[in-house]
Amino acid sequence: MPTVSFPEGFEWGCATASYQIEGAWDEDGKGESIWDRFVHTPGRVPNGDTGDVACDHYHRYKDDVALMTELGLHAYRFSISWPRCYPDGTGKLNRRGIDFYGKLVDELLEAGITPLPTLYHWDLPQALQDKGGWADRDTAKRFEEYAFNIVDRLGDRVKRWLIFNEPLGFIIAGYLAGQHAPGIRDSSMAMRATHIANLAQSMAARAVRQTGHVEALGSAYSMGGIYPATASAEDKAAAERRFRFENLWFLETIQNGRYPEAFAGGNDLNRLGVEPGDMDLLKEPLDFIGINLYGRTTVANDPQDPNLRAREVRLPDAERTGMDTHIWPEAIHDVIVRIWNDYGLPIYITENGTSFPDTVADDGTVDDPKRLDYLQRYLAQVAKAIDAGADVRGYYLWTLMDNFEWAHGFSQRFGITHVDFETQKRTIKQSGRWYRDVITENGFAY
Ligand code: BGC
Repeated sequence: MPTVSFPEGFEWGCATASYQIEGAWDEDGKGESIWDRFVHTPGRVPNGDTGDVACDHYHRYKDDVALMTELGLHAYRFSISWPRCYPDGTGKLNRRGIDFYGKLVDELLEAGITPLPTLYHWDLPQALQDKGGWADRDTAKRFEEYAFNIVDRLGDRVKRWLIFNEPLGFIIAGYLAGQHAPGIRDSSMAMRATHIANLAQSMAARAVRQTGHVEALGSAYSMGGIYPATASAEDKAAAERRFRFENLWFLETIQNGRYPEAFAGGNDLNRLGVEPGDMDLLKEPLDFIGINLYGRTTVANDPQDPNLRAREVRLPDAERTGMDTHIWPEAIHDVIVRIWNDYGLPIYITENGTSFPDTVADDGTVDDPKRLDYLQRYLAQVAKAIDAGADVRGYYLWTLMDNFEWAHGFSQRFGITHVDFETQKRTIKQSGRWYRDVITENGFAY
């Protein structure tokens, strides 16, 4: 008998993203994305790694759906590449591009796997970046129109949708830290871009509902467990500011039509570039909340910090993943419980997983005990949150197979399936075999 069990009908899935797995970067009329441009710029990604081929999923999607069947998945979260469907970001639809997603959806449905597409997982058409990207208000209009068209075309078969993947993540990494495409470092541009992406999220939500096809709409947010460095009131307040900015900046807006009070001394709406009438556009409540959660951040009050007056404290003895993420399983419980208490909407864990440097043994098998341990401990905390009353409907493991890990290229393996990038051979890892049993049992002994 499993000692960690999940409610009947709990949905078990895996998640991926277009740029990280598809390859075929310039095939069948696809336009250039900001990630194509970024990786083709020397020095941006170590080792010159690119997603030009990645897992070659564009050509191997049937085999990959067969792999999902072998794993017993109920559902599959993937993303739609905007420039594959609209090479210039707007205007004429590239029929061969949208057809790829139509065929993928058909293959999934045939296999009894529910598709959960994300409309945007970071691969903006370069043509829109050339006009300013997420720092240009027109991009919100273009996204609204793109989202409507995609849902209108696939909505006869797909009923549940995600608008964004980690909106704060792609703005901070792309416009503030410059580590992700488009590689900009400009804090005022980044703040304005968060507002434009927020407008885009709500406008797209409203638009896709107008297709009449959507039964449930969510967005997938990057959320971290945020904990104060000490029990002092100052550190607790700093951690709370950070929680509101990192975890709620795109959720409080769409749910309640306002920005969460994240900045010490109040939010500066001018700095966000808010124009008259904008705030009225923000509220368009979701049907469910997607939480992507990997680790924790420890935060101390810092009067020198010009924004949140909060500073991250690196704990020296913390247990860490291959990508230096602080492993803290309680974080997933704590965040679920808070989001459930504050918003009362069904929750899906839309990403959770870890990278470790896995290797293939002489007999061809891949054992990954550290990933297995991570997954067990995090899933046990998800179950605990459900026992505490949170309505968590499903769990999408990141990720189905090793893939192109953004600024880390192929150096980080997050998959429960190993991919040999020379031969494209897929091998289900020990954690994948374990996950298949978890799905069958709807739980596990732990
Ligand atoms: C992203 C994925 C990424 C994963 C691991 C998430 O932030 O949505 O695309 O691969 O984290 O870093």
